[in-house]
This record gives sequence, structure tokens and C-alpha cells, in this order.
Amino acid sequence: MTNLKTGYAFSTRLSGVGSAFPARRLSNDELSKTVETSNEWILERTGIRERRISDPTNEDECNSSLGFAASKRALEMAGKSADEIDLIIYATCTPDTLIPSTACFLQKKLGASKAAAFDVNAACSGFIFGLSVADQFIRTGQAKTILVVGADVLSTFTNWQDRTSCILFGDGAGAAILERTEANASQRILSTHIGSDGTLWDLFHLPAGGSKMETTPEVLAQNLHKMQMKGKEIFKSAVRTLADYAAKAIESNQINLSQVDWLVPHQANLRIIEAVAKRLNFPMEKVLVNIDRYGNTSSATVPSAFDEAVRDGRIKKGQIILFDVFGAGLTYGSVLLRW
Ligand code: UT7
Repeated sequence: MTNLKTGYAFSTRLSGVGSAFPARRLSNDELSKTVETSNEWILERTGIRERRISDPTNEDECNSSLGFAASKRALEMAGKSADEIDLIIYATCTPDTLIPSTACFLQKKLGASKAAAFDVNAACSGFIFGLSVADQFIRTGQAKTILVVGADVLSTFTNWQDRTSCILFGDGAGAAILERTEANASQRILSTHIGSDGTLWDLFHLPAGGSKMETTPEVLAQNLHKMQMKGKEIFKSAVRTLADYAAKAIESNQINLSQVDWLVPHQANLRIIEAVAKRLNFPMEKVLVNIDRYGNTSSATVPSAFDEAVRDGRIKKGQIILFDVFGAGLTYGSVLLRW
């Protein structure tokens, strides 16, 4: 699905970003006490040193609370107050509850009484899907100010006995404030591309907990309430589609990849990121990486890595940024923007 800036009076700019993580760090060495693995194996195969894990007994570290903390920071950077938000789009595959949406919990926490609020589930690609939806609302004049959150607490759904998957995941949140601007403003979203391939649903899925499979004692005994992953297959598909979606963004804007100042890829495995950079012939010095400290935080990886680089001054106003993601579904997407 392509969305280019044609025929609309408005466009969308990102005016604030924020992120938040739970306090508890889980190192590779600690993990190797519970499953048969080692710091060396995890570091070499994934690039991860540690991840953050939410305390399930701490209300301040549930999904909507992490989203709340990230949103407050994004609002502050944008100089906006919660009552100016028209819409909250909450990208998550690990909601606080199935009913109601986590977006509604966030609306309550923020006191954003004017905002409509709903969740988007595109797994790790969720934040980019959320940006894409928000961009449509703003360009068509339906909304002026939108809060998009990407937040996940994967630790709850991780099988901590499965060494092939439990080493990868962490919890966290990222948020962005999107505002209406003029159609040809310099600082704006230049394009969004999203796509899905449901035929590959079984590469990464969570069988139980939805309406199709109740969490009975038998289901619990088989760990069907935990994420199931075919890591090798995802790896291959991820490298190919990340390269494809980067190319879509570049081609549709008729620019060269060398004009992109920063690539912000989904952080699933450092080897995936390096393989994509190599395939695109893009220098790793211009690729944002935070997987070493946070692991794969699903929909939070891109906004949190972006937020970190904005705040530490690596990303400067006027630079061209490429977000590039893949996730369960499978889902894919890219967003090109001038910050
Ligand atoms: O957002 C989407 C989420 N998921 C992903 O993106 C996953 C993408 N895939 C990956 O990141 C990688 O495929 C993994 C990190 C999951 C696995 O890395 P790999 O290089 O593909 O390893 P492998 O599956 O080929 O396993 C190599 C060996 C195997 O042993 P044998 O058969 O060679 O004896 C595994 O049993 O490494 C073994 N192994 C481990 N050893 C120590 C697998 N996991 C571990 C572990 N520690 N944690």
C-alpha cells in the first residue's frame, strides 16, 4: 500500500518523541543461569547484552504506564498538552487487556478527554502502521494532533524455558506527536509504505489467549499461551523485506539512499540489521542501534532508538530519516521523513 503526498492541502510532521523502559535489567549472564546459553552465544548471534523486563506487580510498568511515560516526554518535546490530542493510536500486540484497548487506558492516564483512542496490532511493525494511519487522518484534515505510541511487554508472553526465543525480547515504549503542517513543508512525513503477508502467520505467533483458543490447563501445560517462533525463517524473510521496503521509500521519493542521514531499522537481531545495511550498501555508522541494551522491544524499537538519537544530538533538524520494519503477521513497512 502506497501513500504519497499528492492532492492534499496538509501534510504531517513529527514534533515530539519520547520513550520509556522498565527499571529491571536482565543480563545475558543472568539468563544463562535459567536456560542453557551463554553471554558469548547471545552477543555473537544477536548483538544483545541485556534487556529490560517489567515487574508484573508494579502498575507503573504495565504496558499503558510505559506508554504513558513515553507519551508525556513526547508531549513535552512538542510543547503540547494532552487536551490538544485529537486521536491516540496505540500500536501493541501485548495489550494491558483484550478489552478495552490499551489506547483507552492511556487516554484516561493522560486526561486526553478530546481524543478518540484505539489500538493497532501489527506486532513489531505496529508503530509504522500507526504512523501511516495517523498520516491519513492529518492529511485529509480529520485531525490536527495525533499521539502514536509503540509499546510492548513481550516478557509476559515469552517462554522463558525456550532458549531459542527468550534471549531476544525485552519490554519498552516509544511515542511520537504528529501535527498538521502545510502540504509542502520541509519538515514532514515524505512517504509511508505498509504491507502484510498472512500466509506466513505461523513464523511467529501466540496460539492461545484469543477467542479461538481459551487458556485451559492443557493449553498452559503445552505453553500455547507463549510466543512460538521459527527464528531462521524469520531471519531470511526479514533481511529481504527490510531491504525491499527501504527501496520502496527511496524510489517513491526519487532520492538516493545516500541522501538518507539515518536508517532506523526494527531491532530484532544485530545480524539482520548488518545484513540489510550490507545489502543496501548503506554505512553502519548511519544506522541507529539500541538492541544491545534493550533487546527486541517489538513496536517500541524504532521510536525508542529514534528518541534516544534525537535527545543525544545525533539526529539534527532537517535530516532525512528512514524507519524500516518487519514483524509477525508477517507485516512490513517503512516511513521516510524529514525531521
Ligand atoms: O520480530 C520478530 C522476532 N523474531 C526474530 O526476528 C527472530 C529472527 N531470528 C534470529 O534472530 C535468529 O535466527 C536466532 C537468534 C533466533 C537464532 O540464531 P541462528 O544463528 O539462526 O541460530 P540457529 O537457530 O541456527 O541455531 C544454531 C545452534 C543450534 O544448535 P545446533 O543445532 O547447531 O547444535 C541451536 O540449538 O545454536 C543453538 N542455540 C543456542 N545455543 C546457545 C539456539 N539458541 C541458543 C542459545 N544459546 N540461546
